[in-house]
Amino acid sequence: MRRLHNALQLKQLALLKQMGYRYTDVKPSDLDPEPAQLPDDLEELRRLVEQCHLCDLAKSRHKVVFGEGDPHARLMFVGEGPGATEDQTGRPFVGRAGELLTRMIENVLHLRREEVYIANIVKCRPPGNRVPTPTEAFTCRPYLLKQIEIIRPRIIMTLGATAYRYLTNDETPISRVRGHIIQSDHYTLVPTFHPSYLLRNPSAKKQAWEDLLKVKALLEKK
Ligand code: URA
Repeated sequence: MRRLHNALQLKQLALLKQMGYRYTDVKPSDLDPEPAQLPDDLEELRRLVEQCHLCDLAKSRHKVVFGEGDPHARLMFVGEGPGATEDQTGRPFVGRAGELLTRMIENVLHLRREEVYIANIVKCRPPGNRVPTPTEAFTCRPYLLKQIEIIRPRIIMTLGATAYRYLTNDETPISRVRGHIIQSDHYTLVPTFHPSYLLRNPSAKKQAWEDLLKVKALLEKK
């Protein structure tokens, strides 16, 4: 049955190709609805996102992981997407990587986790923890942009390559941008490594700690 379905789909695609349709990559501008069309209230936005079925991730998720923390936080962390524990609990960064992130917040920044805001590029778990596809990331991006617009953090720390890439639309490798202080119109961005990467590569922790100290200094200044 599945094979027949696939064969029919391929036939339909071949037909569209014959008619002159061409495959194109998804560009951010194609899919970014105006964040202005989304609610300005964080809880209303959460309710909307919890009903989202705009991409395939909705089919396999258990819970939408909207984000959590202080709605007036001065510092926001942006990760890639929920893992298994997050998908079960509906909370961001609560698995092993989350435990490390919490220690980074508490031990280096001397803040409580509840004092920052934590969100992700995609709000639903990519199956098998794969990297979100560009379509998934760009479909979900307006939700993150609206969260940023509502919370108005002074500083955003992106965690890992995917978060940096999709928040900024810049494909510079994370190894080259991490630790840079990037001023954008509404916030200061400091990209760093993803805690999962740090768990696999503990020697990179030193650099991540340095990045956090920069954020700490910025928070003290602002
Ligand atoms: N990794 C992420 O990027 N986000 C989470 O919420 C958990 C793990």
